Amino acid sequence: MKDTQRILVTGAGGQLGQELVRTLMAVFGEDRIVASDIDRTKGIHFTQCAFEPLNVFSTEHMETIIQHYNIKQVYHLAAILSALGEKDPTSTWQVNLDGLLAVLATAQKMEVERVFWPSSIAVFGTNSPLDNTPQYALRDARTVYGIAKVAGELWCQYYFERYGLDVRCLRYPGLIGYRSLPGGGTTDYAVDIYHHAVKGENFTCYLGPDTRLPMLYMPDAIKAALQLMKAPREKIKVRPGYNIQGMSFTPAEALRSIQRFYPEFRVEYAPDQRQLIADGWPKAVDDEMAFNDWGWEPKYDLDFMTEDMLTHLMEKGVES
Ligand code: SER
Repeated sequence: MKDTQRILVTGAGGQLGQELVRTLMAVFGEDRIVASDIDRTKGIHFTQCAFEPLNVFSTEHMETIIQHYNIKQVYHLAAILSALGEKDPTSTWQVNLDGLLAVLATAQKMEVERVFWPSSIAVFGTNSPLDNTPQYALRDARTVYGIAKVAGELWCQYYFERYGLDVRCLRYPGLIGYRSLPGGGTTDYAVDIYHHAVKGENFTCYLGPDTRLPMLYMPDAIKAALQLMKAPREKIKVRPGYNIQGMSFTPAEALRSIQRFYPEFRVEYAPDQRQLIADGWPKAVDDEMAFNDWGWEPKYDLDFMTEDMLTHLMEKGVES
């Protein structure tokens, strides 16, 4: 990217956005990043870079921002997560799918060079092979969040093939980080469990002890996005969204990993409706194509992540 060009992040106030903006500022410089969120109060997180309150449905406003800052890359993260999405399927579809379409159309019109969009393991479902799910397995999504991700993947592919818009996608598994909290996802327990351990409180897990899901530690999730966006265009052979993961574990395994540092820590299990969603998701995904095409390689496994999470949460202090 040239010196005058900038990167826009939508939904920057969310779990992934806050961490992504931090890394983008470190890599490209604070003056090169524009954080945006529909919620203007999220601006408090972005004192070092530009912040614009933005509803992506206000496409004229988005165009003005793109023009004003000379935006050449967009990371479109604004979305509602899986469990929360089930409470209001219509508005989730609108935010997650129509929001993506607004961004794709604006990016194409304004000649943005690259767009990043996170897809999810939620594209898979009951009739997909759930063990080591292949890249091109049946996308049998059963949540509105997952259905919007399937449709979104196809739209991203369409924009690439029809208009040449260079949109790149990753199918994120559960994301775990110590700096920001998820809200309304099916994999949120994997963040909350660490907070409880550090606070010295026992944890009630809404998934059963043996529910295996693919996960990714935040530094690896951010690294993957940047690596994908940096790769030469011809290397990106999968447009709908690359399978990626860093590890795959169950709540019982997470507990054991934490008990190495907090032997007294205990978890009770009280599965709720999120169990049904998790049961339809892959236990692990095959991410070989990401490795082959652009060199994807995670650094953190469960125990390495546990050590890092607990160290940082202890240093930073956990809000109650
Ligand atoms: N972490 C997401 C969720 O639980 C899945 O992409 O909704």
